[in-house]
Amino acid sequence: MERYDKIIINELYRTHLEKTREYEKERIFCHHDMSHFLDVARIGMLLNVTEGYGIDKDIIYAAALLHDVGRDVQYEDGTPHEAASADIAEIILDGTDYTPDERKLILKAIRDHRDESVKDEKNLSGLIYRADKLSRPCYYCSAEKECNHKKNKKNASLIW
Ligand SMILES: [Fe+2]
Ligand SMILES: [Fe+2]
Repeated sequence: MERYDKIIINELYRTHLEKTREYEKERIFCHHDMSHFLDVARIGMLLNVTEGYGIDKDIIYAAALLHDVGRDVQYEDGTPHEAASADIAEIILDGTDYTPDERKLILKAIRDHRDESVKDEKNLSGLIYRADKLSRPCYYCSAEKECNHKKNKKNASLIW
């Protein structure tokens, strides 16, 4: 059993994911669901290995699984979801075996995941930022024209 298994079975985690699923039922743009979280985790691992970050797998997975957990809160009341996600993640991580230092790193990466200034950092924040962006298949998206992400943030080609 990996340490992130306790995140996936956490009731609070599942409640937020269910709410986001409901909010995104008709959404034509990228969803914030388990398949997105796993894309971020696995691309994060590819970056970790090919670029030699040396970060533990279960830390990358924890940050990837949790980085958008508060997306439903943003739909609900407009709170930026990096902040909502970090607050919820803190509670969820309480029920896990991650150490206080590891939790700090994970929560920082969640808070930083929409902050362009971290994108070149060779740490968990930079890795999650980049994996999140790289996970979007903009090159094969029927809603690409309506998507208001800036052109330089869209993926013109498949990298990972
Ligand atoms: Fe996000
Ligand atoms: Fe994301």
